[in-house]
Amino acid sequence: MNPAVLEQLKAITGPAGWLTGAHDVAPYVRDWRNKWSGAAPIVMRPATVEEVAAIVSTCADAEIGIVPQAGNTGLVGGGIPDNSGQEVILSVNRMTRVRAIDPQNNTITVEAGCILQDVQEAARGAGRLYPLSLAAEGSCRIGGTLSTNAGGTNVLRYGNARDHVLGLEVVLADGRIWNGLRGLRKDNTGYDLKQLFLGTEGTLGIITAAVLKLWPLPRDEVTAWLGLAGPREALAMLQRLQDGTGGQVTGFEYMAASALEMTFSQLPANRSPFSKEHPACVLMEAASSTPDGDLRRVVEDELAKGLDEGLLADAIIAESTAQARAFWQIREDMPQAQTMMSGSISHDVAVPAGSIADYLDQVSEQIAARVPEARIIPYGHLGDGNMHVNLCAVSPADGAALLSRADDVNDIVESLAVAFGGSFSAEHGVGRLRMRQMDAYKDATELGLMATLKRSLDPANTLNPGKVIAPDRLE
Ligand code: FAD
Ligand code: LAC
Ligand code: ZN
Repeated sequence: MNPAVLEQLKAITGPAGWLTGAHDVAPYVRDWRNKWSGAAPIVMRPATVEEVAAIVSTCADAEIGIVPQAGNTGLVGGGIPDNSGQEVILSVNRMTRVRAIDPQNNTITVEAGCILQDVQEAARGAGRLYPLSLAAEGSCRIGGTLSTNAGGTNVLRYGNARDHVLGLEVVLADGRIWNGLRGLRKDNTGYDLKQLFLGTEGTLGIITAAVLKLWPLPRDEVTAWLGLAGPREALAMLQRLQDGTGGQVTGFEYMAASALEMTFSQLPANRSPFSKEHPACVLMEAASSTPDGDLRRVVEDELAKGLDEGLLADAIIAESTAQARAFWQIREDMPQAQTMMSGSISHDVAVPAGSIADYLDQVSEQIAARVPEARIIPYGHLGDGNMHVNLCAVSPADGAALLSRADDVNDIVESLAVAFGGSFSAEHGVGRLRMRQMDAYKDATELGLMATLKRSLDPANTLNPGKVIAPDRLE
């Protein structure tokens, strides 16, 4: 890269705001799963929106690609540069200020580098809930969660990250700052511009701050571990619990026996809550903001009816916060256990929730018939229709052979999801990993509209080039 441009970039932040040494840059050019790597001559770590704007306009003038990065926990390679050594990483990890909390308006204004867990805690400190929750919450950052429109385990009740946003501050591709930090629940003054930057993985602008909605803090929570025969029974139980509690179920996480076995064997600090194995388990949580309510009694009644009707085989309600945490730990350890499996292939599909059982039946049949060396390990957010239909090799020795067939496996799992009216990427995004699928499954009109937006907001294609939208679509 042109040394003069490097010097210009360094001068913007001073020495606290850039890294160039190979050892310092290394954590920024490799992803959490160790699946993607790249090269970058410099990692810029601005501390203010003005510094972000100056970096972006310097790169725009020099036509240098910028890869935005927040916590680097993304699972599709979207925050990792290519191998050219010509792209600059712009990390927001020094922009960690909570700018304001307004308990009356139920909002919090945070910078893009705030760690998700810190935002949850700041909200709790003000007697409020910020509901986004996922296993990476101790290291993912708000800029990343908004740019990927992260989902996680509370979507059923509170929606995806996009649904929590009232306002944004964004640096545009030419370095202009858009201050859209409004905290309004009603504002119909033209186009809802913030949607251009939510879930677009840093390809249209760099998010530097956001106004997020807050909710009442739950005062009564019930966490239970359920054993059952499969997704049909799980869905029927969800329906029961939602009807019985008046929609107070916040999480409903499905785990096939294969996913549990994987987690217990790879990360043995986890123990099965049941002495007997069931074909599937569900971790459910319900929450109410009314203190001393009768949520537990209602959940117990519904579980008892489920047991009577044969929908449920077994159930344990957590008797303490520690027991509830141990249940959640099992579920949260699944992505890490998956990385330890030979021939690991991950998916992130969604289908309409009512079709999950039929969809999983068909995936199982087709994988058994066409890829017998693969074992299916489904787990995920059954309540909102999003399943991680992951796979590994039946025998560790077959791992490499299975990986060589990854495209065939993706095609089976994802084309069936699309045939069921679903999505090939429900919550992780497209990044580098699912570019092929964009061409295969997205409608030409949708791809054309995306190209139109990209061309008009980032005509030189310097913002996260090569991610989400293929460069040849921009010609
Ligand atoms: P990064 O990985 O740094 O970046 C993600 C994308 O956003 C990249 O394309 C990057 O270029 C872009 N970006 C980052 N910051 C900005 C910015 N300021 N402006 C513009 N673009 C930006 N995801 C879920 O949805 N649900 C889950 O349940 C879930 N569980 C996970 C569990 C584990 C153990 C792990 C490792 C990951 C999990 N993820 C999950 C994926 C990941 O945590 C989320 O995608 C998260 O939102 C990424 O945040 P991040 O700060 O790490 O972003
Ligand atoms: C999860 C991540 C993989 O649900 O999205 O655990
Ligand atoms: Zn998930």
